[in-house]
Amino acid sequence: MSISIRGMTKSFGTTSVLRGVDLTVGDGELVALLGPSGSGKTTLLKIIAGLEWPEAGELTVAGTDWLALPAQARRIGFVFQHYALFPHMTVRDNLAFGLTVGPRKQRPDAAKIAETVDNLLNFLQIPHLADRFPAQLSGGQRQRVALGRALAIEPSVLLLDEPFGALDASIRRDLRRWLREVHDQTGSTTIFVTHDQEEAFELADRVVVMGDGRIEQIGSADQIHDHPASPFVARFMGAVIELPVTLRAGRAEAPGLDASALDRRALPDGPATLFPRPDAITVQPDPASPWRLAAKTSTGALIRLDLHGSGDARISIDLPRYTAPPVEIGTHLRLRPLAGAIFSAARPATAAAAPTPLSPIKENRL
Ligand SMILES: Nc1ncnc2c1ncn2[C@@H]1O[C@H](COP(=O)(O)OP(=O)(O)O)[C@@H](O)[C@H]1O
Ligand SMILES: [Mg+2]
Repeated sequence: MSISIRGMTKSFGTTSVLRGVDLTVGDGELVALLGPSGSGKTTLLKIIAGLEWPEAGELTVAGTDWLALPAQARRIGFVFQHYALFPHMTVRDNLAFGLTVGPRKQRPDAAKIAETVDNLLNFLQIPHLADRFPAQLSGGQRQRVALGRALAIEPSVLLLDEPFGALDASIRRDLRRWLREVHDQTGSTTIFVTHDQEEAFELADRVVVMGDGRIEQIGSADQIHDHPASPFVARFMGAVIELPVTLRAGRAEAPGLDASALDRRALPDGPATLFPRPDAITVQPDPASPWRLAAKTSTGALIRLDLHGSGDARISIDLPRYTAPPVEIGTHLRLRPLAGAIFSAARPATAAAAPTPLSPIKENRL
């Protein structure tokens, strides 16, 4: 079922958590919601699930106003990072649970429930776990069961809140592929929340980047990587270098910078910030450049150059070790970025890029 969210706002006390969210998820689509901790991802899912209510905005699912419906009426499948399976029930009984608690007239009979659970065990490739208790399962197996429990009720919408967040990287990768296969076969409309870029991009066709209660950008991995819509997205995508520059005729200028490899931008003349990709910069000796090589370290494949510029400006860049030019400590170097985003100080790239005060929260609540 398609989900349509319009102008959604939510605060807790004086903290604005959602600041006008607009998002459409197509029927059967799997969308990843990607953002740092505290950006409002869980709150948005809880509103969709009916566990929180917004101050303003619309939530329509398959044309029905869901804000008028109580949580039980929404048929949501929800999987959390730490999903508490019922510890005293076997996997089979955990999977059956949702089917045994529905309104009496919709409740399937015992034979039908057993058949549904068997099908689910096979479909999820966990029939051998059927008679185990949660304590006898690995973390990855528990999350497979948790997803099975969410799918058992044939949910209208599947909400996954960092479901693999507590697991090891290699298990996460396996589960990601498995989830993608499960999704391709069930076609459930799914929102998958994560703060891990790789996970978001590998899993979903469309990634929604959230920051400070707003959607900053929606796009594919390449679009978001190559054309971040705001300084926030550039930083979140790992653009760790920020150079103050002056734009003239669409080209960035700064002492010690050669921006001729970058396309000209349709941006007004004046102050701007360049976010060169740290993995796409080359350097050339230039005695007139303020950037002086202060240290170099090898990480095997890459060589990291620490450069000191005017005042307290400091940057580090990574070059492939085999093709990096030999440079001595103390050499002055000109920077030649091959890719990077530029944001004019005069005109934020999007309304969402305008800075807004929000108390920083480090902890993820779920
Ligand atoms: N029930 C609540 N009461 C007060 N503040 C909350 C509550 N739930 C979430 N918040 C705050 O809302 C912000 C967004 O939280 P959350 O939606 O959990 O973000 P995310 O899932 O992206 O980490 C945080 O600042 C968090 O502390
Ligand atoms: Mg969260």
